[in-house]
Amino acid sequence: MRLVSVRRCRPGAILARSVYLDNGTVLVGEGVELTQRMIDRLIAMQVTNVYIRDSRTSDVVAQDAISEQTRREAMGLIFESFRKIQDEPIKWRHRILDQQMGRRFRQVMHQVIDELKQNRAAMNLLGNVCAADHYIFSHSLNVALYSTALALKAGYNEKELLEIGLGAMLHDIGKMAIPLDILNKPDTLTEEEFAIMQTHTEIGFDMLRQQDEIPLLSAHCAFQHHERMDGSGYPRRLKGEQIHPYARLLAVCDVFDALTTPRVYRKPMLPHEAMEILYGGADRLFAPSMVETLRDTIAMYPIGLSVRLSTGVSGVVVDYNRGQPGRPVVRILQNEAGEELSAPYEIDLSKHLDIVITACDALP
Ligand SMILES: [Fe+2]
Repeated sequence: MRLVSVRRCRPGAILARSVYLDNGTVLVGEGVELTQRMIDRLIAMQVTNVYIRDSRTSDVVAQDAISEQTRREAMGLIFESFRKIQDEPIKWRHRILDQQMGRRFRQVMHQVIDELKQNRAAMNLLGNVCAADHYIFSHSLNVALYSTALALKAGYNEKELLEIGLGAMLHDIGKMAIPLDILNKPDTLTEEEFAIMQTHTEIGFDMLRQQDEIPLLSAHCAFQHHERMDGSGYPRRLKGEQIHPYARLLAVCDVFDALTTPRVYRKPMLPHEAMEILYGGADRLFAPSMVETLRDTIAMYPIGLSVRLSTGVSGVVVDYNRGQPGRPVVRILQNEAGEELSAPYEIDLSKHLDIVITACDALP
């Protein structure tokens, strides 16, 4: 399979991975042959990349971080419970998360942790494409997956993994109490609107700490995920060590996912581009150790991505190097002149440190 941007997809291409809607249902299923109408629809729904079948890379399989069933369950639960809050009159919204929901979040998070433990390969989420019309639902799941993977890497125990995972999955739940015209406003918020938007941290904290099934530290994740190392964050302008380690970890994953996901106002970045931004803010905004853990956990060049190398040849990422996710194995399919090779070969970038990736999405 190969990862291609939807804009470069041609009719006749066959999907190698399903594309989901934000409530966990399938928008276009694996194995479907794309028509121009479907491609237009995917573009309209802001799906940016899809996996397609490709004979030259038919043996390449991008492993999903969690099973399809768990993904659907988690997305369905997030969708259902968040929406339920939005359906309430605004003044009641902060009290709505019921006990049973808390229990279900715990169950689903246990499942996610178990599956992530079994699958310790570098995490690859780019291909888990979701329509971006309801960004917050898929964002909540993505951030939970990143945060839990980072926490595993950092050696946290079972209880801590659950606290972090739940905190990450529910970190933005307070947004469901923000008036829709502010929450969904495509333009820049006014100062007043931004102040209202910022209250999602406190509201989320209030919602979660009233829940017996949700650990108090998970509620603090919602409270502190917009705090920044230099004290420039909100709501309490905490600094450095004053910010709970969970929230420092979560902040990095939150921003990373925001940067790599399409938004109304900008195109998504590739993982390594988002990483540059995070490195730019390491120390000042983010905990450098967390940024490094992210670098070591996430596949910077996802399997299936087309790349060009500094030697001029182009190919597709076919494997990761554990511990060095920035230096994948690339199957070379085109020579320097852009001609198809009759005998593709592979280069392991962890063994050729003189060669670097110079462009992504390089193949037609
Ligand atoms: Fe937030």
